[in-house]
Amino acid sequence: MSARLKVCTLDDVWEGEMRVLTAGDVEVLVVNTAAGVRAYHPRCPHQAVALIDGSFDDGVITCSAHRWRFDAATGAGVNPKRCALIAYPVEVDGDDVYVDLSAVAPGAVASLT
Ligand code: FES
Repeated sequence: MSARLKVCTLDDVWEGEMRVLTAGDVEVLVVNTAAGVRAYHPRCPHQAVALIDGSFDDGVITCSAHRWRFDAATGAGVNPKRCALIAYPVEVDGDDVYVDLSAVAPGAVASLT
């Protein structure tokens, strides 16, 4: 079952920015990359530190805690490579940005909440 929820409009997150926004009652990290808008669980897969406290530069999200780095377009680990962000599918409909929270199993985020 799809759980497509509006999370923001394109005006809310400019290209090169990331913000934590709410879809329903779930916080989502919305990142506007050169490859398009992406949405991730807002906590780092290492020790669940808030990714918004890190940086987003040159297409890479860097966690503030231990400097793990992630490709903002895919969520894949840059350093280390064996990790990845939990990604939510995104649809842009006009200016509205939707995320599908049902695409990620609840157990996948349990350790990050
Ligand atoms: S908590 Fe993010 S790198 Fe350690």
